[in-house]
Amino acid sequence: MSISTPTSETSKSAKYPVSIAPMMDCTDRHYRFMMRFLTRKTLLYTEMVTTGAILFGDKPRHLDFSKEELPLALQLGGDDPKALAQCAGLAQQWGYTEVNINVGCPSDRVKNGQFGATLMARPERVAECVEAMKAEVDIPVTVKHRIGIDDLDRYGDMHNFVSVVSQANCDRFSVHARKAWLQGLSPKQNRNVPPLRYDDVYRLKREFPELEVEINGGIKQLDEFEQHLEHVDAVMIGRAAYDNPTLFAAVDKRFFGAEQNHPSLVNTRRELVEAMFPYIDSMLTTDAWLSRVTRHLHGLFSGMKGTRSWKRFMAENSYGPDAGLDTLKRALDVVPEATLDAPFE
Ligand SMILES: Cc1cc2nc3c(=O)[nH]c(=O)nc-3n(C[C@H](O)[C@H](O)[C@H](O)COP(=O)(O)O)c2cc1C
Repeated sequence: MSISTPTSETSKSAKYPVSIAPMMDCTDRHYRFMMRFLTRKTLLYTEMVTTGAILFGDKPRHLDFSKEELPLALQLGGDDPKALAQCAGLAQQWGYTEVNINVGCPSDRVKNGQFGATLMARPERVAECVEAMKAEVDIPVTVKHRIGIDDLDRYGDMHNFVSVVSQANCDRFSVHARKAWLQGLSPKQNRNVPPLRYDDVYRLKREFPELEVEINGGIKQLDEFEQHLEHVDAVMIGRAAYDNPTLFAAVDKRFFGAEQNHPSLVNTRRELVEAMFPYIDSMLTTDAWLSRVTRHLHGLFSGMKGTRSWKRFMAENSYGPDAGLDTLKRALDVVPEATLDAPFE
């Protein structure tokens, strides 16, 4: 953790001081629906969707969501200003809260398409994209990026990137506080191997006090959220939000100033599972197998008694067309009563 002096300029007024990061195969609509029983206020993100998939594919499949998931940002992958602007228009039409460009993903697919993290080397192009999108929509247009890529990894390189992109009035810079190596490291390694450089993100906020800066990478505990918020406007949480979803049960009160939790929020793990019953029931009648929804519940008991039995039961029983609500109810029986009913911390 950094020892920089907190900036007095840090805006305490960011509308969304906490968000859950876009994560492929994780932050789908089922996960997002579940999270809304824990936090109503955290800004959620979709998984990345490429502009091509939206413009030439099945738009409802890529864009539909339940209104309960709001506030929700659509994350786009692409580098063509016109296509991104068209998709931003669709995002607004569909009711998304914000639209975001991915300038952080280092996967081969993204590299071949010349978008994602490779765009860190093309700030002017990113600025053109943001400008085109902002001309199309009224909702905020934001960018999620890295500290740097390959040899373009000095603080000055990121400063230049942000300086250029901010000319297009980008509404937020969400910075994954580690660089990406585009050759030699897998996407997974790129989330773990390059060291975290929180100080560079704090410095960015100090040097651009008028911009909204969000920090991301390796943040796991609520106390850490608080420490980062001394330096930047917002924190974005990825893996910890997926592996330990109940962490978010305290977020609305602690970070959004909610005096009381919304009545739809739940207090125990049992309540969370039961709150999902009607949703699961309706999903089972449409497209989904049970596991499409319940795979997001695997981390529900992490660190608690019974978590292994729960995971094992779910792994053995929740896959396949015959698994249904009864399966889930039986799964609750393998977890100790005390664990099920323990209030969230
Ligand atoms: C499984 C997985 C999928 C991810 N998919 C995306 C994605 O679609 N778009 C994106 O910008 N970042 C993606 N990321 C990166 C996260 O948004 C985040 O930047 C990264 O995990 C660091 O934050 P954390 O340490 O809090 O997890 C993904 C991360 C994971 C673990």
